[in-house]
Amino acid sequence: NSTTPTTTTIDSSGFDKIGCVGLGLMGHGICQVAATSGVHSKIIAFEQEQRFLDSGNDRILKSIDKLVEKGKLTLDDANDAMGRTEFTTDMDALRDVDLVVEAVIENIDLKKDLYTSLGEICKPETIFASNTSSLSIGEMAAFSGRPDRFLGVHFFNPVQLMKVVEVIKTDDTDPIVLEKGLKWVEEIGKVSVLCGDTPGFIVNRILVPMLMQSMSLIDRKDASVKDIDVAMKLGCGHPMGPLHLADYIGLDTCYFIVSGWMEKYPDESDFFIPACLQANIEAGNLGRKTGKGFYHWE
Ligand code: CAA
Repeated sequence: NSTTPTTTTIDSSGFDKIGCVGLGLMGHGICQVAATSGVHSKIIAFEQEQRFLDSGNDRILKSIDKLVEKGKLTLDDANDAMGRTEFTTDMDALRDVDLVVEAVIENIDLKKDLYTSLGEICKPETIFASNTSSLSIGEMAAFSGRPDRFLGVHFFNPVQLMKVVEVIKTDDTDPIVLEKGLKWVEEIGKVSVLCGDTPGFIVNRILVPMLMQSMSLIDRKDASVKDIDVAMKLGCGHPMGPLHLADYIGLDTCYFIVSGWMEKYPDESDFFIPACLQANIEAGNLGRKTGKGFYHWE
């Protein structure tokens, strides 16, 4: 059950070679953290299109440079990590990996197609782990042909700095697979928390309604963007105020999460789209990624 402690009885995950599918905002960070952890002999970094592969590679290099510059990673370790990472657009390269971590865009149809292909390509023992933040793990697992070897590993942005990873199990997840997932999270230097396959898991189920409530304050003209953020930073000790954080996450991502939940759970009053969020989306102001949202970003 969901209250199982997040400790494991195994010595190691046994994940020697892993695959990272999707090198966007989250995926490049997961790939980087796995590579710099030094626990894998090979990391296959996969994107379907060369331009996305190149931008993922670029993001990793920039982040690694920053960590080296700050003395958080040695140049030798950085070179070693990059040397063990193979960037490819050939899905067949994932054939014999022990673990696939998927972080492609949050589109259930796209993910179903991807897991159908991966299920056919990867060796039977390969474990699949999705970094989805809001889709059902069970729904995706059903398409993989291996629901017992499927779990969720939900990282937080920026992956390189955020310590926690939610590990999600379904009713079908084999207990040993779950233990391996928990162990792996520890091996790459993160802290795991365990949750069932429920909308938003732990963090987003609490965080996203809070972001929506902060936008409702704007809609009602009860408080300004600045004052809401100052209030939550100094009143609750949050590192970023909720509107700053919504911009940082991406307003499209916030919108996507909530609209998916509204469709699936129409009776849940926590799930709604505030007018100011709708207006930003319609204006193409998606937060940090477009330079404008609740704030202007450099
Ligand atoms: N790689 C390497 N270094 C990075 C980096 C990255 N990806 N991102 C930031 N850094 C560096 C910065 O350059 C900075 O370096 P300097 O100290 O040399 O300037 C350092 O890390 C700290 O960054 P900041 O100056 O921005 O300082 P900070 O103390 O504000 O820390 C933060 C940044 C960790 C992001 C912090 O503000 C924070 O914890 N914010 C909240 C983030 C959060 O809540 N994330 C969860 C979002 S929800 C989510 O991800 C789930 C979902 O599904 C939607």
